[in-house]
Amino acid sequence: MIPIKDKIGIAKMREACAIAATVLDQLKPLVRPGVTTQDLEEAGRDWIARLGARSACFGYQHGSRRYPAHTCISVNEEVVHGIPSLRRVLREGDIVSLDIVVWHDGYVGDNATTLPVGPISPALEKLLRVSREALDLGIRQAQVGNRIGDISHAIQTHCESHGFSVVRDMVGHGVGTAMHEPPEIANFGRRGTGEKIKPGMTLAIEPMVNLGGFKTKTLADGWTHVTSDGQPSAHFEHTVLTAESGPEILTIPRPQ
Ligand code: MF3
Ligand code: CO
Repeated sequence: MIPIKDKIGIAKMREACAIAATVLDQLKPLVRPGVTTQDLEEAGRDWIARLGARSACFGYQHGSRRYPAHTCISVNEEVVHGIPSLRRVLREGDIVSLDIVVWHDGYVGDNATTLPVGPISPALEKLLRVSREALDLGIRQAQVGNRIGDISHAIQTHCESHGFSVVRDMVGHGVGTAMHEPPEIANFGRRGTGEKIKPGMTLAIEPMVNLGGFKTKTLADGWTHVTSDGQPSAHFEHTVLTAESGPEILTIPRPQ
């Protein structure tokens, strides 16, 4: 069963999501050549605290491991869940994905974006553009009366029609009083399949899109997912409310 949020739950989701989006927004201008992913982590950690929230990533348990940082920062062939490091220096031509997930007042907001580091190749420009468009098209399908597979299908067909592939071993998800709630939202699938979308669902829609093949593997650190062929990958994510009036993006930053 997909949890349905009531008025109070929706108000709290709005707040958590606005915070997650504001943190992400504050990190964007810091991305440039010479910066380490640890620099971005520290700025993210500080903004989360300043806005009165808590990182949902820090200490997040998967098997016997706990995630050691407040943000997930993934460079080039890293798909998601890259661990920030003092040794990882951003270089011109890289792409970097920032994934910010916060707890606030019992609710979780989740969002991610991929940014260029200085000028990047036309192929990478296209990867980012198509992935961002795929997120928009997926969100547009998050309509009451549609099914979850309609979101998946829209994302997959857009990415593949431009020659890219979608990651299959990780998915978007419901989000609310836990970081991961039902349903799973694959970035590939068939129209008209999956659960029906009802008013009051809050969904983290998150295409992970590869320049090369769809296969990924996990590094020995137990967290970092990379493409198997070493080619770059992009990740865009919003938390979306399925309102009666249509999908509403909740992860919108507030000016600081
Ligand atoms: N947005 C990521 C997800 O939904 C956040 C993971 S936090 C981590 O999976 F701790 F697992 F890295
Ligand atoms: Co997510």
